[in-house]
This record gives sequence, structure tokens and C-alpha cells, in this order.
Amino acid sequence: MKFDILTLFTGMFSGPFDESIIKRAKDKQLIDISLHNIRDYATDRHQTADDAPYGGGAGMVMKAEPLAACIESVKARQPNSTVVLTSPQGRPLTHRVASELAQKDGLIIVCGRYEGIDERIRTLYAEDDISLGDFVLSGGEIAAMAIVDATTRLIPGVLGSGESADFDSFGDGLLEHPQYTRPPVFMGLEVPETLLSGNHELIRRWRRKESLRKTRLLRPDLLCEIELSKEDIRMLKEIAMEDAGGL
Ligand SMILES: C[S@@+](CC[C@H](N)C(=O)[O-])C[C@H]1O[C@@H](n2cnc3c(N)ncnc32)[C@H](O)[C@@H]1O
Repeated sequence: MKFDILTLFTGMFSGPFDESIIKRAKDKQLIDISLHNIRDYATDRHQTADDAPYGGGAGMVMKAEPLAACIESVKARQPNSTVVLTSPQGRPLTHRVASELAQKDGLIIVCGRYEGIDERIRTLYAEDDISLGDFVLSGGEIAAMAIVDATTRLIPGVLGSGESADFDSFGDGLLEHPQYTRPPVFMGLEVPETLLSGNHELIRRWRRKESLRKTRLLRPDLLCEIELSKEDIRMLKEIAMEDAGGL
């Protein structure tokens, strides 16, 4: 999958994209990331990429011309890629959205700065608009990194053997069960006995039940969005009784 990132701050990406899973995915040629400096597409002597907002007020707005030239140049090379804006006004980045994006041939991700980008860029080029959440970042770069990371994990072959995004939180619609590693006792807290039993079926059931317990406690809204099995319903009843002190 091809990622093209349009930014005024290309230097911000060198660390996050040169480590761990993203680096491995690049090395395996499962993804390819290109950074484009929007300023390179400004035609005036000072390479101006921003200007004061019409109507007055604080801050600056990213100018339409360099952005349009940058998007068009990248799109000419990647005609099948989807132009994605980063914006606090976009649709929230969720597992479902990341799965959708992972099906695309490529993403051209536009990082805004200052007060944002000239609205005409949205009108002319935006095919999607993604937000990290209801808060305002200083720029779209961190959002672009999150989009690349969340999407890349879902591309077949990216995660190593034994790893799977299906078992992560949201993969099956629930939060993941708690995880433990050695030592078996830490500061007086013991690892649940079932996990040490070696009995795969008992461990599977424990994990499913704890996954349901966590989801019920922290994100009960998710339980309304998935189809629960008979086993899930039975486990949820048990959890409700346990939490009420009944078991
Ligand atoms: C300071 S923000 C501009 C916010 C804009 N004035 C507003 O109130 O909607 C500058 C840039 O950061 C990025 N950004 C800020 N918050 C974001 C969020 N929650 N999700 C994704 N991108 C965000 C966008 O690219 C945005 O154009």
C-alpha cells in the first residue's frame, strides 16, 4: 500500500516511521511511504504556504495554490490513491475506519497546520476527512502517523506469525482481555491460575469472559454493536452476578 504524506514538517516523521512494525512493513515492501513538502510547491520567492484569513481574526490559513499543486502532482503519480484530509472536524478514526482505509490502493494524507487549510481544497480534492478525536492538535502530522500505523497493522503479512489484529481490541468488536507475562507473582499480585494451567479450552473461555467483562465495564456501548453468542450471553450473566457479589 502506498502512503503519500503532504506536510510542511517532513522531519517529524523520521523517528516513528523508522522503527518497529512500520519499518518492518517497509522493509518487506508491504507499504511504501513518501513525504512531500507542501512548501516545495509554492511558487513565490519566499515559498509562502500560508496567509491571513479572509474576514480577519487570529492565525494563518494554509494557502490553496501550493496545496492544490502538491495534491495534483502526487495524484498524477498515484491515480488510484484516495485523498484524505486530517481534521478535528472529520469522522473519528476507529478500527472500522482503519479497516476501510486498509482496503485502498493508497492514501494521500494532507496535514493541516495553523488555523487549517483553505476550505476550497476540501471542496475540490477531499475524498475522506479523518479526525483523531474531539480535541485540537497543532497539526495533522500526528494524525497522519496514527492513520498510517492503524492502517498498516491491518494489511495482511504486516504482523508477524502469532500476532494478529483480529485478537486486538475492536478486532472482534470487544476490548481485549487482560494480558500477563512472567513473573507469576508481582508485588503480591498473582497471574490468574487458569492462564498457568496449560488447558487451551479453559484459557480460551477465561479470555473471552474477561474480554466481555472489560468491555462491559469500560465500553458497554460496544456490546450493542456485535452479535453475541449463547456462550457470550451466559458469560455476561455470570459477570453481572459476580459483580453484584452473587458468585
Ligand atoms: C490547529 S488545527 C486547526 C483547527 C481548526 N482551526 C478548527 O478549529 O477546526 C491545525 C491542523 O491540525 C490537524 N488537526 C488538529 N486536530 C486534529 C484532530 N483532532 N484530528 C486530526 N487532525 C487534527 C488538522 O490537519 C488541522 O488542519
